[in-house]
Amino acid sequence: MPRLFSYVDFAGGSEKVRNYADKHSPVIICNSEAERNIPFKVKVRIGTKVKHPNAPDHHYEYIQLWNLETLVGETKLHRSSFGDQPVHIEADFTIFPKVSLRLTALAYCNKHGLWRSEEVFVKVEGE
Ligand SMILES: [Fe+2]
Repeated sequence: MPRLFSYVDFAGGSEKVRNYADKHSPVIICNSEAERNIPFKVKVRIGTKVKHPNAPDHHYEYIQLWNLETLVGETKLHRSSFGDQPVHIEADFTIFPKVSLRLTALAYCNKHGLWRSEEVFVKVEGE
């Protein structure tokens, strides 16, 4: 089982440590309510303040979106598509929800491992 990192694991650290965690942590951006079977947009962004490197030997390889234990979306990242400078990589997903969601994102840095977001609850109307 791989280790799974999250921002909260580093929240009590120095500014350098918190910045390290920030630039690795996926963040889910979406509305808190959705309608049943209506397309619902979810954005996952890596980092809130600090951009992650996007170098050939150090970059993100994929972003996954989970609803509890169900994988609902995955984006494989082609590093060169995001340039050579540090970047906040984003991936957009569309879900057709049937019931309320408990979303978590996972993202994999080839040098620093697997990082998870905070869980986001989405209330689905009409379930
Ligand atoms: Fe990294």
